[in-house]
Amino acid sequence: MTATAEGTLTELSAAYRRDGYFRFPYRFHGESVRLLRERVSAISRQRRPEVVHEKDTDTVRAVHGCHAFDDLCRALVRHPRLVALAEALLGGPVYTYQFKVNLKRAREGAAWPWHQDFSFWREEDGMARPDAVNIAVPLDAVHPDNGPLVVIPTSHTLGLLDLPENSDNSRGDWRQHVSANLAYTVKADRAEELMRQRGRKPILGPAGSIHVFHPSIVHSSSNNTSSDGRALLLITYNRVDNAPKNPTRPEFLVSRDSTAIVPHPDDRLRLVPEEPEADPTGPTDKAEARS
Ligand code: SIN
Ligand code: MN
Repeated sequence: MTATAEGTLTELSAAYRRDGYFRFPYRFHGESVRLLRERVSAISRQRRPEVVHEKDTDTVRAVHGCHAFDDLCRALVRHPRLVALAEALLGGPVYTYQFKVNLKRAREGAAWPWHQDFSFWREEDGMARPDAVNIAVPLDAVHPDNGPLVVIPTSHTLGLLDLPENSDNSRGDWRQHVSANLAYTVKADRAEELMRQRGRKPILGPAGSIHVFHPSIVHSSSNNTSSDGRALLLITYNRVDNAPKNPTRPEFLVSRDSTAIVPHPDDRLRLVPEEPEADPTGPTDKAEARS
């Protein structure tokens, strides 16, 4: 890695610690995005437990764990720049903890209430520390109306909020971890208050852009009421020494193989630098509260 790239990783790590999210200054080339979309679309037509539907419909909500059975998704999690990024942020070797694509179909894709991912991973899987990182790659352009992910900047510093007193109630029902009716949520009035204090940041950008967020950041997304799909691919890397000891949820939600990833380039998955001014996400919207 060049000195410049190392400098960039240091700056990105500082932003990650301070804000809990950032946009990576590279994105996947259009042809790579096309291949990934094609692959995800083929997987979503398969009948397999990894394919989850919106409540009471045939609409596919998400596909999970594709890196374990699809060669292109497996190549993606081994992408040298993604692995280097995760290792720099987490300070050690990493493995893929989760892989999913939330499809958020046009007009049918349902919301994700306010939540923190680490609540699920700690309470359900026994992950000890939030030494994991989410890397999100939209496979469709994300705009304000197709249900963008919204994060509350700096909220990752607050620890876990609003956990139920007896969180054992929902253990075992993994469907409540992938549906619009989530098992662990941050209360809407608390999220409103946090947004008044800290603002809100919709994660917008072209297909192939790369966005990184912390497992404890408070985030949500609304229903997709637009005529554009909003497929969002999410890779969660976890530090190898933070692997949960005895996870019980299905393997497509919690990878059991915690061997450190060996990075490997693949010509099908090409990154191109982002122009610095290409980030359309803009500044944090202060006090633009939404439920
Ligand atoms: C998530 O919270 O994991 C993703 C939500 C979304 O796809 O909007
Ligand atoms: Mn989440």
